[in-house]
Amino acid sequence: MDNLKTFGLFFIFSVVSASYNLYLNEHETMRLLGLSAELYYVREGLINKYALQFTVPVPANVRDIAFTWQSLAGKPLPYRINIATSDPVVLPRPQLNITRIGEMPQEIETFAIDMRCSGVRAAEVDVTISIEVTLNRANNNVTELVFTRRKICLQSEVPENTSDNPTLLTSIPKPPSAIITLIVGGILAMILVAVLISIAYCARGPTKRKPHLSQPVRTSSFQRLQTHSSSLAPSICPTNATLPRSKCSEPEELHRRISEITVQRCRVRLSSLLQEGTFGRVYRGTYNESQDVLVKTVGQHANQMQVSLLLQEGMNLYGACHVGILSVLGVSIEDHTAPFLLYAADNNTKNMKLFLQEPIARTLTTIQVVKMSTQLASAICHLHSHGVLHKDIAARNCVIDDELTVKLTDNSLSRDLFPQDYHCLGDRENRPIKWMSLEALSLRNFSEASDAWAFGVLIWELFTLAKQPYVDIDAFEMENYLREGYRLTQPLNCPDELFTIMAYCWAVAMHDRPTFQQLQFCLQDFYNQLTRYV
Ligand SMILES: *[C@@H]1O[C@H](CO)[C@@H](O)[C@H](O)[C@H]1NC(C)=O
Ligand SMILES: *[C@@H]1O[C@H](CO)[C@@H](O)[C@H](O)[C@H]1NC(C)=O
Repeated sequence: MDNLKTFGLFFIFSVVSASYNLYLNEHETMRLLGLSAELYYVREGLINKYALQFTVPVPANVRDIAFTWQSLAGKPLPYRINIATSDPVVLPRPQLNITRIGEMPQEIETFAIDMRCSGVRAAEVDVTISIEVTLNRANNNVTELVFTRRKICLQSEVPENTSDNPTLLTSIPKPPSAIITLIVGGILAMILVAVLISIAYCARGPTKRKPHLSQPVRTSSFQRLQTHSSSLAPSICPTNATLPRSKCSEPEELHRRISEITVQRCRVRLSSLLQEGTFGRVYRGTYNESQDVLVKTVGQHANQMQVSLLLQEGMNLYGACHVGILSVLGVSIEDHTAPFLLYAADNNTKNMKLFLQEPIARTLTTIQVVKMSTQLASAICHLHSHGVLHKDIAARNCVIDDELTVKLTDNSLSRDLFPQDYHCLGDRENRPIKWMSLEALSLRNFSEASDAWAFGVLIWELFTLAKQPYVDIDAFEMENYLREGYRLTQPLNCPDELFTIMAYCWAVAMHDRPTFQQLQFCLQDFYNQLTRYV
């Protein structure tokens, strides 16, 4: 086994009764994720649940995906593979180059799943691959692994002619030049970011150039941010077939932008650990001996997905320049297994959800809550005015200081640090179900209006000192529950005026919800009323 090549990026699996390995080999990981490493889903029988949960996007130019496996049980292991696609018209039933029922061999074998789009129209198609492996026939010990891939199909792509059947290998695209740099230079994390960003960037349909985030010296035109125009279609896929490729093919440009905020690791000093998840950590520290910072990083046990998600999500608000937004200040990716994200933050800045939940008896006055809400509404208004959706507005994604100044930040590591706030429904994507609007839950339709919904829940969190919303409702029930008209109840100390604002945020129809401009105005107005006589 060439496990040596895994760069120690994966969980250290304790060795149990060895049964089989199932992974993406280096070639495959490079194609799909831009990483030079193997990605293990099952190593010696142990399942990496986190990796399984991740929906891997399959770019339009990748036509087949491959898995590698090997039975370690001393005998071939029986398997059964089933593949389903969410849109058989766009992506007809994918073909395998092994039989659907068979035996996993004892030598390393790679098999491929051919995912050719029909070209009928552009769409994003979810492909669910389930693999059952029988470990022991006697006691019916079967493991079932479910993988999801999101295949991007373009319209009018010349329908593949299956009859002249080019071997699957010939359809593997040449790696872009960025990846060659990687192989040569081994600047792994850099490329990872570039690839993720280029996927994301291209994906957003860059035909429309959005205004840049405002004013500032370090702000470049860089945006990997969701734009309004694409927000209504959850599709990653631009509907016009003439997708300009230029952005994708300019890794240098992406590198340049990333490098704008790359800092030297030796200049970062960690002082105390503030939060720890299963792999993510938040530290207080200093940068350049003088600047107080919060540092988000992952521990040595983190895998590639976790590393890439940290970088990807940490870049979400990059360039957003507003007093109410804490956006990433610097990145260190010298050690690609544990990148650092730095955020400029005073010594007394802390996570708002944890702050609200601190065991000391805390109360916030209505005036304070309204003021905090106003600051956040203004921050979100700023994002929206630049075509950026946040998509995960919640107390956990805000910071606060001793003066109760609040700032909105990105959601990197939140899934790990606040696992109780995220749930997987059938699709294995971990989402903040209880903060999501109806249309975001049912159609994955994100918009300014879905941000407004989450903002309503955030105000509720402020009044309840960050109680869990809908604590008795199962995540799977949420959509029906909301559809039947149920909502969060008015917190005891919450004035009617404010609850009315919250209730508007939870209107079923998106156009009935307030914009953040309106929210800002209403909150400010209410604040003025409250403070008129103070
Ligand atoms: C299936 O296709 C993959 C990728 O094209 C190739 O590497 C592999 O050897 C093939 N496997 C079999 C069993 O033919
Ligand atoms: C199935 O096999 C795995 C790996 O050998 C083992 O860890 C697990 O306990 C078995 N489960 C049952 C129900 O026997």
